[in-house]
Amino acid sequence: MKRFLLVVCSASFAIAVFLSTHQWDHSTANAQESKAQETKARSTPNKKAIERSRRTVKTLDNIFKQTIVLVTDKYVNDDDDFAAGSAAVLLFKNVSDGSDNTIRLIDATGDPYESENVAKDDFEKEGIKKLKAGAKTVDEVITQDGKHYLRALTPVPVVMDKCIMCHAHYADAKKGEPIGAISYTVPID
Ligand code: HEC
Repeated sequence: MKRFLLVVCSASFAIAVFLSTHQWDHSTANAQESKAQETKARSTPNKKAIERSRRTVKTLDNIFKQTIVLVTDKYVNDDDDFAAGSAAVLLFKNVSDGSDNTIRLIDATGDPYESENVAKDDFEKEGIKKLKAGAKTVDEVITQDGKHYLRALTPVPVVMDKCIMCHAHYADAKKGEPIGAISYTVPID
């Protein structure tokens, strides 16, 4: 009888341990699952917010390109004049320094005027290839320190003969082929 009781007690103890461990596993799994969902929610900003950032890039891109053409047309008459390219590089640097937008003017020909003005990371390098293959724009959502940003690259073609005055090799570019790009990183919020 004693032995029987001992067996029953040990069995119940084993079952109790099994159930409590199982319960614990289960709740841990639940916690992990909800954490994963939370991370997923944070890692994908909503579509409307992404569209807003795309519109911001489009507006900025239009203003910048119109300005580069206008300055070249009205103010640049010989290759000693302050180039719209130089103005754009300076303007983008100043805009980027004081805000959480980052904007750069980069080369797509492999022969930049300034060695700094080149594609630096994978997004820009791959993006230039896509623009040269005919893409109108390339973009991607990234997350940095828990904040979402839209990265975008838009093409810069040889829009006027004057461009060739300083960038002689632009004369070799096919019609409409991008010789450069503007690279944007803008917040999504
Ligand atoms: C007066 C000379 C001049 C003219 C005209 C000119 N550029 Fe430039 N461009 C420059 C200089 C100088 C830089 C380098 C600016 C810097 O980094 O400060 C530059 C930089 C650039 C860059 C960045 C890549 C690189 O080569 O460093 C692009 C793209 C560019 N220019 C496109 C154009 C386009 C398009 C036109 C015509 C609308 C044009 N440029 C007209 C002198 C000129």
